[in-house]
Amino acid sequence: MQSGFSKLTKKEKINWVVDKLFSNNIEAKKLLEQYHLSNSELQKIHDDFSENTLSNFLLPLGVAPNFLIDGKDLTIPMVVEESSVVAAACNSAKFWYKRGGFKTKIIGTKKTGQVHFLFDGNKKDFIIFFDKIKTKLINSCNDITASMKKRGGGIVSLNVLDKTIEIDNYYQINAEFETVDSMGANFINSCLEQFSKTLVIEFNSDPRFNHNNLEIIMSILSNYTPHCKVIAEVECEIDDLIDKDIKDSSLFAKKFKTAVEIAKKDIPRAVTHNKGIMNGVDSVVIATGNDFRAVEACAHSYASRDGKYKSLTHVEISKNKFKYWIELPISIGTVGGLTNLHPLVNWSLKLLGSPSAVNLMKIIAVSGLAQNFAAIKSLITTGIQKGHMKMHLSNILNLLDADDNERILLVKFFDDKVVSHSLVKNKLKEIRNG
Ligand code: MEV
Repeated sequence: MQSGFSKLTKKEKINWVVDKLFSNNIEAKKLLEQYHLSNSELQKIHDDFSENTLSNFLLPLGVAPNFLIDGKDLTIPMVVEESSVVAAACNSAKFWYKRGGFKTKIIGTKKTGQVHFLFDGNKKDFIIFFDKIKTKLINSCNDITASMKKRGGGIVSLNVLDKTIEIDNYYQINAEFETVDSMGANFINSCLEQFSKTLVIEFNSDPRFNHNNLEIIMSILSNYTPHCKVIAEVECEIDDLIDKDIKDSSLFAKKFKTAVEIAKKDIPRAVTHNKGIMNGVDSVVIATGNDFRAVEACAHSYASRDGKYKSLTHVEISKNKFKYWIELPISIGTVGGLTNLHPLVNWSLKLLGSPSAVNLMKIIAVSGLAQNFAAIKSLITTGIQKGHMKMHLSNILNLLDADDNERILLVKFFDDKVVSHSLVKNKLKEIRNG
């Protein structure tokens, strides 16, 4: 146990970590220094994001151009370490650009939070009491809601839910919020904590409850946001699906539909199917400084909303039409949080034309759909490894310390072959042996 670690200076923390936990402390320290932006304003900003920052952890920031979304051209920023994700987005974007692009629709923007509490008295009395103090609860948040109201948001509704069937004496205040362009986590949590304080004050001063107890358990937003939801879709004639890898468009459409149906019935496949969607979703969520853990948790719980985990995308084939869409709850923001603090987040948002939160929801959903399309297209035609391993070739070449000349020769050699680690290794050995 090391107490007071957070009170040490950064230098002391680094020394503590490398001296105690690395066999080669000099090398470990050098690496941290290599990624550290000494004496810069940027480092100061990074240090303040989190506790005990020793250095920075870089991830590639890439872009996927040629996205046509609701008639508008967009280049999407993506932060992701997996080799083929940006390439897949680019391919999908180009494919659908020529077929009318992506269309989107916002289904709702409401978010919720709950005050969870126990109450051991008469339900009817409590519900009457709650209705009476509802306005007081809302007004007690006036200081918190003032600027959100100016921006068009605020508290939308407040209800008490009887949950005593699930847990003895368990009730909730379920509150709905509009948070406009911010994700709104701090706003929602501050309102909820104020609700619980006001609730306790009002309860204690009501003579009806002199012999009852009310115990606040917790007040917290919910990352499950099924009413903050977007749909993104593409549609074209089946004949128009013809492409360099799609020779028979009706066979392709049928196989595509079956692949999505499998992801609706088979959980092991559904998880991988949705993981592919999240490759696209998370990359944009991270690039725009949003909370990818919240978006992930919400997407997967939404995928299980019928009691069984299923695909987040859907396909419909009718007559000669291929219609394919994603329905995704996403809670993100384009103001507050990291958006002004992280220079590259700010850059990414500018690249997207400084979108509102609803526009960013649309872009993120499109990115997820595009990624899923690229994955299924490869899976049911060429197989995934051809493209994947081609992108992975550079990683293998880096691992094997290939120089520029060796790279050129090997990239050319593998142009029409399936890449594997051992094949690359052997081929490099051949080159090195002349
Ligand atoms: C890999 O990151 C994602 C895929 O496995 C998704 C899928 O199988 O649909 C290719």
